[in-house]
Amino acid sequence: MTDISAKIAGVELENCVFNAAGPKDVTLEELEAIAKSASSAITMKSCTLDPRTGNAEPRYYDLPEGSINSMGLPNLGYREYVNFTSVLKQHGKPVVASVSGLKLEDNVEIVSAFNDSEADLIELNLSCPNIAGKPQVCYDFEQSDEVLKQVVRVCKKPIGVKLSPYFDFVHFEQMAEILQKHRIAFATCINSIGNALVIDPEKESVVIKPKGGFGGLGGKYVKYTALANVNKFHELLPEIPIIGCGGVYTGTDVFEFILAGASAVQAGSVFMQQGPDSESVYAKERLRKIGRFHGEIKDV
Ligand SMILES: Cc1cc2nc3c(=O)[nH]c(=O)nc-3n(C[C@H](O)[C@H](O)[C@H](O)COP(=O)(O)O)c2cc1C
Repeated sequence: MTDISAKIAGVELENCVFNAAGPKDVTLEELEAIAKSASSAITMKSCTLDPRTGNAEPRYYDLPEGSINSMGLPNLGYREYVNFTSVLKQHGKPVVASVSGLKLEDNVEIVSAFNDSEADLIELNLSCPNIAGKPQVCYDFEQSDEVLKQVVRVCKKPIGVKLSPYFDFVHFEQMAEILQKHRIAFATCINSIGNALVIDPEKESVVIKPKGGFGGLGGKYVKYTALANVNKFHELLPEIPIIGCGGVYTGTDVFEFILAGASAVQAGSVFMQQGPDSESVYAKERLRKIGRFHGEIKDV
């Protein structure tokens, strides 16, 4: 039988595809729907110290080939997600906690709380582009270094980072050095491409309300940037599993990420648009190719 399983920081995944933090994973009901789907793990919404209602609506918009959003981290506050882990674990799948404290001390407190939970992996979100007045931490290398230093010190679970896309080789190298220094267990590339602007020419207006219409771009528009980020980090950090995310709609997309060097793949916009069963992502005839792939991506 074809093997499409994956392993991230010692955590076994039955298949290499699971949901990305954010889309349809805020409430316990939504998380249980993911638990019952083909997703091989259950990633929970990025959580903050206190519950947040998020940004003003409309804050999400479907595009022909993806999405733009400026949700502003609407979530129930970390205590709820800590409690959810024991319920979710009953479904027999790994649970991934996504942590997105608004400041360093928040991240330390939240990660410490997940130490005593049933979460299998922690994904520290250093890349949210949608909080007004809060820059994406992972574009500030000094701050990233400090956050990881403090958070890794208290964390007793395998902890990885969710990164924004980088566009410059020097930035890949700087971040890779930081991840290596702090012995990060995995890296997820990429979060949405921050501060895109979508304009509706009929209505002569922007399509989402927060930040004057600026929001994070996801879906097919970002796949090639995501593949590049996966490939570069895999090259720089061959020992660290890279989870690919960005523009995954089909089993073929998944295969492309595996070719680029991903150990597993997450699906975001497609979950928002098709729900957690997203049949196309799990198209077995495409995923089967993964089981036959054992090498490196070839040059032309
Ligand atoms: C509605 C929505 C909410 C999101 N919320 C989060 C979040 O809370 N934490 C996070 O790390 N990424 C969040 N993201 C980013 C996705 O996890 C993913 O990185 C990005 O959308 C690219 O993947 P895609 O092309 O499959 O959508 C969100 C994306 C969308 C569309």
